[in-house]
Amino acid sequence: MVTVRAAQARDAEAAVDVVRRSIIELCTADHSGDVDTLTKWLANKTPQHFLTWLANENNFCVIAVENGEVLGVALVNRSGEISLFYLAPHVQRRGIGRVLHATLEEKARNWNLEKLHLNSTFVARHFYEALGYVPAGTAKSHFGVLRCYPYEKMLIPKSSSSGRDIGATGADRSRST
Ligand SMILES: CC(C)(COP(=O)(O)OP(=O)(O)OC[C@H]1O[C@@H](n2cnc3c(N)ncnc32)[C@H](O)[C@@H]1OP(=O)(O)O)[C@@H](O)C(=O)NCCC(=O)NCCS
Repeated sequence: MVTVRAAQARDAEAAVDVVRRSIIELCTADHSGDVDTLTKWLANKTPQHFLTWLANENNFCVIAVENGEVLGVALVNRSGEISLFYLAPHVQRRGIGRVLHATLEEKARNWNLEKLHLNSTFVARHFYEALGYVPAGTAKSHFGVLRCYPYEKMLIPKSSSSGRDIGATGADRSRST
């Protein structure tokens, strides 16, 4: 069973490893093997940077775990930007991305945000579109050959009687995949 929970400092190495492998192995259509682009893209994908992201109270970072193995990492901040969203290469199309995203979306609603926004890779565009995102501008170059595709998703306001704020610890959401 896959469990989604708030990321903790002890997850830093495994989480960063997932992010790096996801970029290197799954985003080939984005970096095209361009060493300079990859070097810049990966430069801040380190345990040290991950720990600073966790320490920032404006960030909410979750991981997907199965049998103790980290399979996915996602992060949203209080501005509504999703700035990390990466699955391990061997767990594509099991619905894990959808569950991770639902957790971020629930947090955004509890923050009373009106929308989520992000810069998608080329390879993730169909995923975000399936989750209700719409294009929000023209693609821009980043890190060299990488193109970032702006997307946004308007959120339905949280009713006063529903919604539960997800705290910093504990298993929050799970599903069998
Ligand atoms: C994009 C990514 C996060 C999707 O995660 P995932 O767990 O494989 O996605 P899910 O299984 O939850 O898919 C949910 C829906 O999105 C759509 N979708 C996901 N991947 C897709 C693909 N490669 N092609 C077309 N549609 C896709 C489908 O509609 C899917 O529903 P379905 O499987 O019932 O048809 C994952 O592929 C990934 O980590 N990619 C590389 C890293 C990356 O580019 N991250 C985005 C950074 S901005």
